[in-house]
Amino acid sequence: MPTISINGRNVSVDAANDTPLLWVIREQLQMTGTKFGCGAGLCGACTVHVNGEAVRSCQTALSEVAGKKITTIEGLSAKGDHPLQKAWILEQVPQCGYCQSGQIMQAASLLAKNTNPTKDEVVAHMDGNLCRCMTYSRIQKAIMRAANDMRTASNAPADRRAT
Ligand code: FES
Ligand code: FES
Repeated sequence: MPTISINGRNVSVDAANDTPLLWVIREQLQMTGTKFGCGAGLCGACTVHVNGEAVRSCQTALSEVAGKKITTIEGLSAKGDHPLQKAWILEQVPQCGYCQSGQIMQAASLLAKNTNPTKDEVVAHMDGNLCRCMTYSRIQKAIMRAANDMRTASNAPADRRAT
């Protein structure tokens, strides 16, 4: 049985090498935060991180993640307190919510590399993540808020950061 590293744990999964990662995450590991939308790489609802890069798990075979670190929305932060998750709440981003874990994972891959993106960079990075409820403007505001919070935190004196 293949073993995968997901959210900091090594788990054995009973699936063929060509099984889409999304199926493994949802059906075998019962992590249902990652959503099935189109199943064709077109919507972004299934976005997770593989070695820190945002990927479409519906288009990623189990064999492609061997030896790599997978992170799902459940593993993005210890207590649901990633700056993006906090900003999502403050900006009241979700409507139906279905696309939102994919949106957050896509955004997190941007802010992991760049905590000072322009609005155009945010729009370009998020371009492939669709929201049928049209929450795009709130998504953009939340990303800019989280980026600002991350910059502020990184500029804080060490003694303040520790509290
Ligand atoms: S479900 Fe994977 S991109 Fe739509
Ligand atoms: S919040 Fe409904 S699809 Fe995005």
